[in-house]
Amino acid sequence: MHFIPEELDNYVVAHSEDEPELLQELTRETFQKILQPRMLSGHYQGRVLSMISKLVHPKNILEIGTYTGYSALCLAEGMQKDGELHTIDINEELEDFQRKYFDKSLFGKQIIQHLGNALEIIPKLDKTFDLIFIDADKDNYPAYFKIIIDKLNTGGIILSDNVLWSGKVIEPLNPDDTSTKALLEYNILLKEDKRVETVVLPIRDGLTISRKK
Ligand SMILES: C[S@@+](CC[C@H](N)C(=O)[O-])C[C@H]1O[C@@H](n2cnc3c(N)ncnc32)[C@H](O)[C@@H]1O
Repeated sequence: MHFIPEELDNYVVAHSEDEPELLQELTRETFQKILQPRMLSGHYQGRVLSMISKLVHPKNILEIGTYTGYSALCLAEGMQKDGELHTIDINEELEDFQRKYFDKSLFGKQIIQHLGNALEIIPKLDKTFDLIFIDADKDNYPAYFKIIIDKLNTGGIILSDNVLWSGKVIEPLNPDDTSTKALLEYNILLKEDKRVETVVLPIRDGLTISRKK
């Protein structure tokens, strides 16, 4: 989805950081071997995630929705030297692919993979986080917020992807469209919850930054 004319969008990308070589390789292999390759964050959003992580300089990071590991590697770029990145995905077929690229990066030893349903795994994580990236099944976004908010440190950041859902959030709602329904609920939740301050960025499919007060 282009929020600005495509030509201007290309200009924005051309004047932003280049995509690291390892991430170019990961993208190529994802497109060759994995279903739904468009799910990965990609060059521009990846550089945005990396920049936000470098600004936050988090010790511990939580990611919900690893897929092939692209966004995890971007977020890891800003992590503290003794920090950990915990990333959760329900699809076991992706595990070896993710590990291969995590180990090729500088952050292999600091990235911990969790396999299973994030709703079941998160309550068992005995950690608090400075940065949390939500990028899994949209229907569960409100539920994710409710189980992560107490695990987010004061001043910590939640990044939520796909919050504009290709513009469906402003179109008439199809009652069978549970994902759009959940995202509409989620966007109101973030705006109204007094524990966070929130800004929606019209980047790619919509990326929200919420900071815990
Ligand atoms: C959009 S992709 C993540 C893309 C990745 N963050 C990136 O930018 O490269 C969503 C991922 O969430 C995973 N997923 C879906 N439902 C899940 C759940 N309940 N718990 C954990 N992972 C889930 C899917 O298997 C898929 O790999």
